[in-house]
Amino acid sequence: MLIPEKVVSAINEQIGYEFSASLQYYAIGAHFATEALPQLSAHFFKQAEEEKDHALRFIKYVVDAGGRVVIPAIEAPQSTFQAAEGAVQLSLDQEVKVTRQINALVELARTENDYITINFLQWFLAEQLEEVSSMDNLLKIVQRAGDDLLKADEYLARVGVRSMPQTPAE
Ligand code: FEO
Repeated sequence: MLIPEKVVSAINEQIGYEFSASLQYYAIGAHFATEALPQLSAHFFKQAEEEKDHALRFIKYVVDAGGRVVIPAIEAPQSTFQAAEGAVQLSLDQEVKVTRQINALVELARTENDYITINFLQWFLAEQLEEVSSMDNLLKIVQRAGDDLLKADEYLARVGVRSMPQTPAE
């Protein structure tokens, strides 16, 4: 096997976290669909697919490295929300938590002198920067809309979640 057993175990845990994030976003997407907010709903369904892709990237990595994939049990996500802001705040907290988890994986790989995994994790570090930033923007959008969530939904359709009119070098 190309990478240490300890790293494989930690990545298997991370696969669980990514699937868990995916389920949470499906639940939030369904919540907004129930509230007839199609853009907010679509945004979270898309995020759910992205989290599933993250889990699949880790699965492929373990297989490629010659390790054994063991997917842990996943807790049920939160499905009901008093307010949109609460659902988006939960999502932002989740992204911050995942960033800490990815940092911890890098730290473990460093301790184990596992440079292949350190290299593999670079993509996830860049992805977390993007995801925390866009979720933070979405929280601001929802907070500004207040009780009129149609405004947030309309804004998402027109502008999306970016914070700058044009992202340099994109
Ligand atoms: Fe896969 Fe948004 O963390």
